[in-house]
Amino acid sequence: MHAQTAPRPLAFSAGGPLRGTVTVPGDKSISHRALMFSGLAVGESRIEGLLEGEDVLATAAAMRAMGCDIERTGPGSWRVHGVGVGGLLQPQAALEMGNSGTSTRLLMGLIASHPITAAFTGDASLSKRPMGRVIEPLSRMGADFTASPGGRLPLMERGLCPAVPIEYRLPVASAQVKSAVLLAGLNTPGTTRVIEPVPTRDHSERMLRGFGAALSVEETAEGRVIAITGEAELQPQQIVVPGDPSSAGFWMVAASIVPGSAITIANVCMNPTRTGLITALRMMGADIAEANARTVGGEPVADLVVRHAPLRAIEVPPDLAPSMIDEYPILFVAAAMAQGRTMARGAEELRVKESDRIDAMAAVLDVLGVAYQPFEDGLAIEGRGGDRFAGGGTVTTHLDHRIAMSAAIAGLAANAPVTVDDVSPVATSYPDFLATLDALREGRDEGA
Ligand code: S3P
Repeated sequence: MHAQTAPRPLAFSAGGPLRGTVTVPGDKSISHRALMFSGLAVGESRIEGLLEGEDVLATAAAMRAMGCDIERTGPGSWRVHGVGVGGLLQPQAALEMGNSGTSTRLLMGLIASHPITAAFTGDASLSKRPMGRVIEPLSRMGADFTASPGGRLPLMERGLCPAVPIEYRLPVASAQVKSAVLLAGLNTPGTTRVIEPVPTRDHSERMLRGFGAALSVEETAEGRVIAITGEAELQPQQIVVPGDPSSAGFWMVAASIVPGSAITIANVCMNPTRTGLITALRMMGADIAEANARTVGGEPVADLVVRHAPLRAIEVPPDLAPSMIDEYPILFVAAAMAQGRTMARGAEELRVKESDRIDAMAAVLDVLGVAYQPFEDGLAIEGRGGDRFAGGGTVTTHLDHRIAMSAAIAGLAANAPVTVDDVSPVATSYPDFLATLDALREGRDEGA
């Protein structure tokens, strides 16, 4: 995995406009869930369009280590023979989670209600991230944890079977915490409830229903109440994973800030819990049109046509945060190019992602020669009003794929090259990112 390989520095410079059609890889969140839920169904599921990034491969390896039969049959095509709810086996070695918080937190949920003891390890980035947010509700359900100081990896989990159903009000807007509790509830007798005051991505709910789980969602004055009744049988499925809107975000901003650009981004998941960046960019004046709206794998999907447009500063509505939480780094690049002062607050979760994304992007803005004011929960950014960035420096990625890709895109609109100290983390979520960038710069359709 990239954490063990030598850093790969790469410089990104301005060139001509971006042109052509790209197809973004499968959605990361949906890919993790497709493997996990297929692994718990009785019989054989097929998955098409799976994201074959390192994070998702960590999930596949862990599910295999717990008895699932998982095979790659072609590019993006996978076959999974599940063990049934409650059927996961004791892994014989530590589960290596690499850089992946989603793998870690969702699998901690699954294991919580199985008679399994598992050790979780991760890279330097993942080992700094808080796991207390899942340890707390899963302990209430009966699982037992020995974590490293601060509730971090490496940690040891001992599941309990049967576990105890709980009602849990999410203290942080986190789809990972919600999903961990629901997945523990899948093998728990009775009904487990999660109350979500602020809606977060709902891929777990959509897909669990598709697999035949007894799951209901109710909108109440307190928020969304998601109830799952455990010990149901999951039916194997044919899943098509739609394209990742978080990966598409890099191209949306790239085309918006590089003059003369006009691109099509095909097959983008348009689930409303994921489209906050599109909303924010449109408020800034971005030219993003939707075509071919359709449904893929139970999710709304469209092709996006994005043309260069002058951007203006906005106050980013804080209630958009959960629907664009992974897109703030690239939104900050758009804000840095806009006319005026963009204010993005209410995003304190950025501090506990693959890196502290507020500090990491502030350092990128220093390289770009863009003024900013940091806050505990966001940034205010003084945009360049369409003038190229300064560049001419090196960005530290801190093992964070989205910092690497955001800095790379900023380099396309900089007077002097922006050097990314290590592009290898890109492989966690977007292995083809550099090849796609080359294709867009050459005006070729990807793969052509
Ligand atoms: C994810 C949820 C989000 C997001 C992450 C993927 C998921 O994390 O940042 O990249 O697949 O559930 P949080 O739940 O911590 O907000």
